[in-house]
Amino acid sequence: MGGRFGKYGDAKRKVLSGRDAMARPKVYVTRMIPEAGLDLLRQTCDVEINLEDRPLTRAELFENVRGQEGVIGLLTDRIDAGFFDAAEGIKGYANYAVGFDNIDIQEATKRKVPVSNTPDVLTDATAEMAWALLFAVARRVIESDRMMRSGAWNGWGPLQFIGGDVTGKTLGILGPGRIGTAMALMSKGFGMKVLYTDSSPKKTSPVLEKELGARKVDFDQLLEESDFISIHVPLLPKTRHLFNTTAFNKMRKTAYLINTARGPVINEADLVQALKKREIAGAALDVYEFEPKVAEGLVALDNVVTTAHTASATVSSRTNMALLAAQNLQAMLNGERSPTCLNPEIYE
Ligand code: DGY
Repeated sequence: MGGRFGKYGDAKRKVLSGRDAMARPKVYVTRMIPEAGLDLLRQTCDVEINLEDRPLTRAELFENVRGQEGVIGLLTDRIDAGFFDAAEGIKGYANYAVGFDNIDIQEATKRKVPVSNTPDVLTDATAEMAWALLFAVARRVIESDRMMRSGAWNGWGPLQFIGGDVTGKTLGILGPGRIGTAMALMSKGFGMKVLYTDSSPKKTSPVLEKELGARKVDFDQLLEESDFISIHVPLLPKTRHLFNTTAFNKMRKTAYLINTARGPVINEADLVQALKKREIAGAALDVYEFEPKVAEGLVALDNVVTTAHTASATVSSRTNMALLAAQNLQAMLNGERSPTCLNPEIYE
């Protein structure tokens, strides 16, 4: 992805498109994203990019957004009052992520700055990853792979790597939004019983109830009755640490927890203890409480699968996220309501 920019050497900030510089808005992208989005943006804007493959420090972010009219940023960038002070006069901010717990929406709205995210385009990719994790942990794929690579395998064994069954088991969905619904619908092939719960008590899922005969239950029932629980809620004050020692104690000892949403929904230190004590059978995580750090002792455990926050990392998903972020920013720069605006009330 970065090869094309080799000619720019190690420069941190580069104007990548200089045509019509006078008339075109200046926009900043806080880290390399797929070319398709940048190409679209370059059609109407002067695009400057952080070419280093790492998140910017706060100081760098503030310095680089100064004087820009629009910014595309990532879930690793905190978009808060400090950011809006530095980016004074900004006409819009487009998040390259569906999750937007990194944005202080209230602050943006107060300052009348439109902000957007990238829903829909990563729904299937994320749901697929939840399944990849579910199978990896239940069928002990990583442990088995690790043994093969170590050269320690001495042939087929009747007691080797016995894992959990999937077909016919109960899948508990926490958060039947777009991704939770897609994940649940994919269970059709495995004849699973589906339960779901939502952090908003009133919300139901007619789709899951009609398509899968799914049943809405309260959180405790979800914990007690599920063989697999897949987390699909956004990170909000009420969802932070929903999974803690109390919750793990209510789960089945044979149950698995899958998280492709946001790390802090799980108290990671409590999870390590629950996994160590075999309070639950296993966990498969794509997201972490303190990314990029993981809780002490977590990765040493055999009954956990860990991936590097890659649930949306497919070619089409990441490309479409880039295109959608670019379209959002272009609309904002034109003073129009963007396709997936998070604070449309500013236009009222
Ligand atoms: C998101 O979009 O919120 C994911 O966590 C990263 O793609």
